Amino acid sequence: MGKQRILSGVQPTGNLHLGNYLGAIRNWVQGQSQYDNYFCVVDLHAITVPHNPATLASDTYNVAALYLACGIDLKYSTIFVQSHIPAHAELTWLLNCITPINWLQDMIQFKEKAVKQGENVATGLLDYPVLMAADILLYEPDKVPVGEDQKQHIELTRDIVNRFNHLFGQGKQILKQPEPLINKEGARVMSLTDGTRKMSKSDPSDLSRINLLDSPDEIAKKIKRCKTDSVRGLVFDDPARPECNNLLTIYMLLSGKTKEEVAAECQDMGWGQFKPLLTEIIIAALKPIQEKYKEVMADKGYLESVLREGRQKAEAVASQTLRKAKIAMGYSMPL
Ligand code: TYM
Repeated sequence: MGKQRILSGVQPTGNLHLGNYLGAIRNWVQGQSQYDNYFCVVDLHAITVPHNPATLASDTYNVAALYLACGIDLKYSTIFVQSHIPAHAELTWLLNCITPINWLQDMIQFKEKAVKQGENVATGLLDYPVLMAADILLYEPDKVPVGEDQKQHIELTRDIVNRFNHLFGQGKQILKQPEPLINKEGARVMSLTDGTRKMSKSDPSDLSRINLLDSPDEIAKKIKRCKTDSVRGLVFDDPARPECNNLLTIYMLLSGKTKEEVAAECQDMGWGQFKPLLTEIIIAALKPIQEKYKEVMADKGYLESVLREGRQKAEAVASQTLRKAKIAMGYSMPL
């Protein structure tokens, strides 16, 4: 039997942060040799909220370079850009026509983001999960590794698959049902300034997140200032201490220690003792990523060749699925 397939993506909006890394990219890297992987930079998603045309292309390249810097290996994985492959937009249209609007209005992320946009909510923001469903379904993945916040979108994708196959499959599975792959630890990294909110690219305060490209000084400053509490002794899983749980989890994931080891190490510590340790671990974990990122960015020709090759491989898969979907819906598709 061949390897199972993985598909996932990150939006090129703002800086990638520890949440993106621990919730998604690091898991892609750790699992990649077991799977046939497709990793997309989802630049069509990036325009669902107001965006800056002057930086869209460079932001897209930066994310692709970060995939490589974090350890995505082209031996196992294909890296490509969503907008290079027209099938994403085309399948979105086909799926739009079978997706009830109220399914989209129920999406938590839509509700949260729509509130931030005030009266200027674009149709694309509502439609965003259908585009995400198209991203996934075109590649017929077995699994979609993401953080907790994307779970609802994958459930919606599964509902769309059921509906499509029911309407057009004549008893066959035309579109393949994907499964979410969400690791227990790191699936929801929280803000450094409020342990009840997730770490996010769109938080106006840069102090709320550690960006993957932050300098050691910035990291030290952010950890020094991050929110804590006045209790001595650091513990996991105390609902009254969300910041404590979050910082211990980051420390655990980046140090490679087990939860039991970290719990034992930190049970008698105060914040003054823990914060320098955490700072050191974060700086050490990000250093090789930052060095590799500089190398990749210094050779734009190489990055372009990676994306060109990725486009070819991705296009070959995507166009076949699109063709199948169109034929099932009744379109004539001469070869
Ligand atoms: P995006 O760009 O917001 O985030 C990329 C990945 O990072 C995860 N993530 C987090 N994980 C843990 N803690 C956090 N604080 C945190 N913040 C973000 C996200 O869950 C995600 O896995 N809609 C998607 C992008 C997308 C996609 C796809 C993903 C478009 N098409 C197809 C998978 C498959 C998004 O906006 O992710």
